[in-house]
This record gives sequence, structure tokens and C-alpha cells, in this order.
Amino acid sequence: MPGPVLHVTGARPNFPKAAPVLRALARRGVSQFLLHTGQHYGEQMFDVFFRQLGLPEPDIDLGVGSGSHARQTAAIMTGLEDVLTEHRPAMVVVYGDVNSTVAAALVAAKLQIRTAHVEAGLRSFDPTMPEEINRLVTDRLCDLLFATSPDAVAHLGNEGVSPSRIHFVGNPMIDTLLANLDRFDAARAREEHALTTRYVVATLHRPANVDQPADAAALVKGLHAAADQADVVLPLHPRGRASLQAAGLFDHSRVRVIDPLGYVEFMGLVRGAAAVVTDSGGVQEETTMLGVPCLTIRPNTERPVTITHGTNRLVTRERMPEAVEAALRAGRPESWPTPPLWDGHAGERIAEVIAAGLDR
Ligand code: UD1
Ligand code: UDP
Repeated sequence: MPGPVLHVTGARPNFPKAAPVLRALARRGVSQFLLHTGQHYGEQMFDVFFRQLGLPEPDIDLGVGSGSHARQTAAIMTGLEDVLTEHRPAMVVVYGDVNSTVAAALVAAKLQIRTAHVEAGLRSFDPTMPEEINRLVTDRLCDLLFATSPDAVAHLGNEGVSPSRIHFVGNPMIDTLLANLDRFDAARAREEHALTTRYVVATLHRPANVDQPADAAALVKGLHAAADQADVVLPLHPRGRASLQAAGLFDHSRVRVIDPLGYVEFMGLVRGAAAVVTDSGGVQEETTMLGVPCLTIRPNTERPVTITHGTNRLVTRERMPEAVEAALRAGRPESWPTPPLWDGHAGERIAEVIAAGLDR
């Protein structure tokens, strides 16, 4: 039997990407184990996802918790080095662009263990984003690069990556969305949050939007102007809670700030929304598949396919309220294109390449 393969997860966006890959490899009889770094932790940011997505309980939890970039990355690296030295997996699979991703790729590469990066090649070309640094380093190090969109393939090619390392497989996060579509209950979400009219869902956690008081204040001003037009429901990521609260986020009767939601509940809420205001990477993709107008409060996106083939638009904090107004006026699109290979089978394609790589 080939393997074992070690999957490394760390933060919330990793979980819906990893679930279909683990499942597809299990179907092929590949021996695998899962290590969670503990970058995200607790019921709301970790446990609920493993339960809802049918992920196996991690075989190892490094429990690193929160910290500065260097401290967190270093804690993951030292913890993982011990695990890899002891277990010597045939391959390490990393997901997305979080600190856990780059830390694991670095340790595995130095131990000369084969590596695979799921969601390779995305580029915002914005070096102020910590994720962009993580993406560049991870792609440089990993042997197998699984791309979710043609632009990602092109970026890797432009960086001189050999085509033999690049595999255009589609989007495993969308596998998870399509597999769970029947569970996303918009009516229930509406009832749960006492939403009687059209509503907007907002998720905001990027350092550029929430870390500095001036940025948080500008964001809150925009959210209040949006809430003058429709209820705004905001499952708040822990990162921005203090700064957004200090900026007066809660001081509007139509802004509903709630705790982060489980995947199924969150997607139910998004499915029924008139529009979504976000700076999340994954949410840009999910709204694209669901046909929900998405207003991304960022100057750039590493996911341009959600604009060219989806419902996404980039807006500034200042112009966001008028973009919400336009979205409310226009209503949801009746039809829209979806990106190539976002068809629910990315996990299988990834598993096929990984399994072939293990035989070598
Ligand atoms: C991380 C990722 C980001 C991703 C986001 C998804 C990096 C550099 N950033 O950002 O790319 O979009 O996850 O959600 O990897 N905290 C908790 N509970 C938790 C986790 C964090 O309260 O379970 C709080 C802590 O105060 C912590 C802060 O949130 O200091 C930031 O957490 P961290 O994991 O460092 O970065 P995120 O902002 O979550
Ligand atoms: N998500 C969720 N509950 C929430 C907010 C987000 O289940 O309250 C899910 C959603 O599927 C999203 C994923 O978590 O795509 C990752 O979200 P996040 O915005 O934290 O990370 P990013 O994609 O920006 O890195």
C-alpha cells in the first residue's frame, strides 16, 4: 500500500479544501494521517468544521495557538520537524496560504520529503499581504502544485516553474460546497437571525481592514451606511472584534454582530443573502458558485476568476455602500458563468496525481 501521506491543516480556510482530498485518497486506499497545527482552535474556528465536513479527528494537534508571524511559524516548524523526523511520510500536503502552509512546506522540503500544495499559483501581487509571501515561498518549495484556475497556472509558468510540477485540477473548496449544497438552508438562517427583509452578510478579517483604528473606523462607517439600506449580519472573525467594536460597529440597530458560524450555518446565511461584503478569499469563490453578488473590500484579488467568471467586484470601503445599493436594486443574477473545472471533482483529480507520485 502506498503512503503514508501527511496532511497539514492550520486555519479555517484549510478545512473545506482538505476534506475532499482526504476522502478521495481514502477511496484509493492510500494510507494517510492528519496533523493540525492549532493555528485556529476552539469550537467556533476549528471543532465545528471537522464535525460538519466529516474530517477525521487530527492524529496530531501541535496546539501552537496564536502569536506573531515569526513566533507562530517557528512553533509550527519546530513541532512539525519532530513529527516528520519520527514518521517520515512519503508526502506532505499543504493547503492555501496561511502561516501553517508555509511553515510545513519549509520543514518538509528541508527534510527532503515530497510536498504538494493545494491552491498553488494564486497571486495578488500585493507584498503587504502576509498570504502573498506565504504563497510565493510555498510554491517555490513544493514538488506538486495544484492550481484552481488558469491564471494560477500562468503565474507559475511566468515564475519559471516546470510544467511537469503544475496540475490544473479545479477547486476542492467548491467540491465541499457542491457536496453540501442540500444542507445550506437559507430559510432556516433567515429565521435563526430574525431577518424579515433582504439582508447583507459581511465577513471582514484582513489586517489591512481591521488592524488599524483608522481603517476600522472607515469600514464601520461604510457598514453603517450599508445598514441604512438593509440588515447587515456579520459573523465576526476574532481578529477584528476589538478594533471594530472600538470603532462603533455595534452602534447601529440594523447591524447584527454574531459569533463566527459553522460552515453549514454560514453557507445557509450566504445562500439567502442579497449581497455579501467581504475581504475573505474563500467567500469570493463561494458566492461565485451560489450567484450571490459579492463586494470585496480590497484593492486587488488573487482570485480574478471570481470577477471574470463570477459575481465578485472589488470596491473601496468608501464606495461600498453605493455598491450595496446597486446590488439590492439589481437583485440576484438569473444566470452567471462559473470558472472552469469548478465541478465538484477536484479532490479526485488531486488524489490521482498524489497517488501516482507515491508510486515513483
Ligand atoms: C489567518 C490567516 C489568513 C486567513 C485567516 C482565515 C495567516 C497569516 N493568516 O488569519 O490568511 O485568511 O486565518 O480565517 O496565516 N484568534 C482567535 N481564535 C482562533 C484563531 C485566532 O481568537 O482560533 C485570534 C487571536 O487573537 C489571533 C488573531 O485572531 O491573534 C489572528 O489569528 P491568526 O491565525 O494569526 O490570523 P488570522 O487573522 O486568523
Ligand atoms: N466560514 C464559516 N463561518 C464563518 C466565516 C467563514 O464557515 O463565520 C467559512 C467559509 O466557507 C469561508 C471559510 O470559512 O470560505 C474560510 O474563511 P476565511 O474568510 O476565514 O478565510 P480566507 O478564505 O479569507 O482565508
